[in-house]
Amino acid sequence: MALEQTVYTLPQSEIPRQWYNLAADLPTPMLPPLGPDGQPVRPEQLAPVFPMNIIEQEVSTRRWHDIPEPVLDILTRWRPTPLRRARALEQALKTPAHIYWKDESVSPAGSHKANTAVPQAWYNREFGIRRLTTETGAGQWGSSLSYACALLGLECKVYMVKVSFEQKPFRKTLMELWGGRCVASPSTETAAGRAVLEKDPNCPGSLGIAISEAVEAAVSDREGKTRYALGSVLNHVMQHQSIIGLEAKRQLQLAGVANPDVVIGCAGGGSNFAGISFPFVAEKIHGASIRIVPVEPASCPTLTRAPFVYDHGDLAKMTPLLPMHSLGHSYIPSSIHAGGLRYHGMAPLVSQAAVEGLLEPASYDQLQCYEAALLWARTEGTIPAPETSHAIAHTIQEAIRAREEGKQRNLLFCYSGHGLMDLVGYQKFLAGELAGGGLPEQDLRSTLATLAAHPPATERHTGRWRRGKG
Ligand SMILES: Cc1ncc(COP(=O)(O)O)c(C=O)c1O
Repeated sequence: MALEQTVYTLPQSEIPRQWYNLAADLPTPMLPPLGPDGQPVRPEQLAPVFPMNIIEQEVSTRRWHDIPEPVLDILTRWRPTPLRRARALEQALKTPAHIYWKDESVSPAGSHKANTAVPQAWYNREFGIRRLTTETGAGQWGSSLSYACALLGLECKVYMVKVSFEQKPFRKTLMELWGGRCVASPSTETAAGRAVLEKDPNCPGSLGIAISEAVEAAVSDREGKTRYALGSVLNHVMQHQSIIGLEAKRQLQLAGVANPDVVIGCAGGGSNFAGISFPFVAEKIHGASIRIVPVEPASCPTLTRAPFVYDHGDLAKMTPLLPMHSLGHSYIPSSIHAGGLRYHGMAPLVSQAAVEGLLEPASYDQLQCYEAALLWARTEGTIPAPETSHAIAHTIQEAIRAREEGKQRNLLFCYSGHGLMDLVGYQKFLAGELAGGGLPEQDLRSTLATLAAHPPATERHTGRWRRGKG
């Protein structure tokens, strides 16, 4: 009996040599980040935080960027990653849909985050930087950056959101194995952390707070040899992750699929979603019929319920104002187990693609996601990260819809990471101890009220936002 093909691999020699930049193809040009004076930020203003070679990539609207050879040398330790077909899940759902998943869990730290950790560490080292600071939610980014720094000879300091630090103790061990240092955030080590702890000693932390701490630690190095690295949100990170979708596109061709009907990715800061989807967003801009779905937690609904405004990326307002969907930089999301999706904002590139009507955002509560992960574990057999389970929850809905409509559709989603270090959450789910639910309307209204004085990004675009600001 002939075996049915369920894994599509590319040889190392076919790893993409360039990253893709969606900014080159968006119908409307991207809005600039703004400084405290309301003016577009100049590249040199970012220099205390990022090295200039990364800033150049951040502000670039060039469509393609060459991936440096030494970066490719490291990426090929686990890339190209496999594209797999979820035949067992298809059968369980009795769906005519074909479910393809791009398996980013095979990286050393277990997720897509290493795709940008390696180039960020490399560019910093090229620029003469010796130490990186960063935030981490679930710990996937902190461990990926620790891994990259270990290979490239840099020191790494990670501020890990306290609730995840407590839920996922082995992530810290992993970071330490790679030579990184990890502290729970809010910490007493920075002014930003101390200010939060003074107000609320039991604060569970948030990515917004951890970013403030990491930026503060980077810019206060008197030697000037420390910079900050961000695991998501910014344009250069979206570019680094585009390697996921570029590989998937070629692998789908091997499976005889020119373009998928639906592309799905979970979205925290937006990077794995951007990675899997942006090469297909480009196809859509040029006329292909593809539905593209970012999936977020119902308790942190940036794309589905928050406005497109200028807001800070962090609590202490150390970052410029970014044009993005935001729940407000002081919003502290509820302590769900998908720590990597607990971010108040969304990547400007993802936000703008949503504003342009290129995306169809969806949200699920954590119980729906854990149930989807359970079905996945008992059919496909792997244990997804709680973040990834959001993409699985939506993929299952699409597969059911295809069955109900009697349509054979090709679904593609990004399996952004494994959940083997997230077992505390799974244990609580199995014991029936987890709550579901979304963000109550009243809480949404009160957090959005904090944005009242912020410039709405679309109005800024038409030059109207400064009116009435005095
Ligand atoms: C496994 C996994 N998937 C997805 C995400 C979400 O991040 P982003 O939206 O930036 O890809 C994270 C963040 O930590 C993660 O660890």
